[in-house]
Amino acid sequence: MAKDRTRFTCQSCGATHPKWQGRCDGCGEWNTLVEESTAPRAPGPAGKAPPGRGISFVGLAGESAPPPRHLTGIAELDRVLGGGFVPASAVLVGGDPGIGKSTILLQAAARMAMAGKRVLYISGEEAVAQVRMRARRLGLAEAPMALAAASALRDILASLEAETEATLVVIDSIQTMWLDALDSAPGTVAQVRTCAAELIRCAKARGFALVLVGHVTKEGTLAGPRVLEHMVDATLYFEGDRGHQFRILRATKNRFGATDEIGVFEMTEGGLVEVTNPSALFLAERRGNISGSAVFAGLEGTRPVLVEVQALLSPSNGGSPRRQVVGWEGGRLSMLLAVLEARAGLSFGQSDVYLNIAGGLRINEPAADLAVAAALTSAITDRPTDPDAVYFGEVGLSGEIRQVSQAEQRLREAQKLGFSAAVLPRRVARGNKPPAAIEGLRLTEVGHLADLVAPFAAGTLKRTRE
Ligand code: TYD
Ligand code: MG
Repeated sequence: MAKDRTRFTCQSCGATHPKWQGRCDGCGEWNTLVEESTAPRAPGPAGKAPPGRGISFVGLAGESAPPPRHLTGIAELDRVLGGGFVPASAVLVGGDPGIGKSTILLQAAARMAMAGKRVLYISGEEAVAQVRMRARRLGLAEAPMALAAASALRDILASLEAETEATLVVIDSIQTMWLDALDSAPGTVAQVRTCAAELIRCAKARGFALVLVGHVTKEGTLAGPRVLEHMVDATLYFEGDRGHQFRILRATKNRFGATDEIGVFEMTEGGLVEVTNPSALFLAERRGNISGSAVFAGLEGTRPVLVEVQALLSPSNGGSPRRQVVGWEGGRLSMLLAVLEARAGLSFGQSDVYLNIAGGLRINEPAADLAVAAALTSAITDRPTDPDAVYFGEVGLSGEIRQVSQAEQRLREAQKLGFSAAVLPRRVARGNKPPAAIEGLRLTEVGHLADLVAPFAAGTLKRTRE
């Protein structure tokens, strides 16, 4: 007989501890441990688990057809998924509360239903009336999809097990689901994991695509989506500032497609609208000829995206100067500032530095270094960068500018959006083949930060206004 034991599980990373403690050893978060009883696995009727049946092996070589797909009809979502939903797979859609997870899934579900697929939408967060109201607002009230407000997993599974036709099942959200076999409250790691495991098992058995909505929580009162990432086939995160109308859907894991693929949406009165030309959107409010701004030619997944990097300096009043970053890595900014000081002779020691990626996009590429360096140099010299130029390249610790991938694609996007110049890493003598000349684009190759800084520093560093 298994003893009734409890353990303490971190709601942020899932690490378990035998005793309560204020801080999780696994991830270093505070106050995230919650007491849980270890779920007793129901053994067979005789109290003894039946023996396994053995598994069969096949050769590595052999034909396996690519999985069939169900397109949602929302191109940005389909691309992030790697070409639509895969039958018998599980997708986790994470994001802050209020970011638009329910909205996009309702839109996708309704579209698929209108295309004749059987779609089930189970909401544990909102009542049927609320979901109906949202559907009306979105102009989707007539979509023939099946809707239920439920959170008792046993009941939900009973219905799903009987489904033979379902193509897509949406569970909104996994944190509201609960299984009565467990003592812990809905939203705890034990409940979230067990409910997800049961639903995923059912999806694999019944052949439908399963979407689990997971809120990202900072407080640690609910188990975050991170504890589920290893169980699902794909993880999509919804990013963006609630104050901004842009929403970015990013795949961080995808067993059926590329990761780091993004979909860009705009939150409007009529729900989430696809943005087919994100560069134009991100640059829409750019004001040329202003110091501290540079355009980065980035790459998100397979798609080039141009964004504006903005830097602002202000005199620091004593103490250690502030370094504030939105949309980029703070550590990377500190490194770049140090390299600019050590290798290019600029001094930021007396300035607070604010760096912002305009439009709410988060950039992870080291290729952004050169654009950030240009924005910082422009800010400190108070001279605008060439408003018709894009920048990309990685900066090394000795100030060298390193090659980045897909130069040609970045240049093409710049040309498409009407830029006439690009500042990029110098080609090494051999190896890297030069990007094919792109009509109308003047290329300036830089090998070292000093090459980037020189034109700004030429003349005086006095304030200039044109
Ligand atoms: P929602 O999809 O409910 O977020 P989540 O499920 O991630 O918690 O999005 C809610 C927000 O979106 C809310 O602040 C209102 C806004 N919204 C619109 O701006 N337009 C719309 O058409 C809809 C349905 C919501
Ligand atoms: Mg919701």
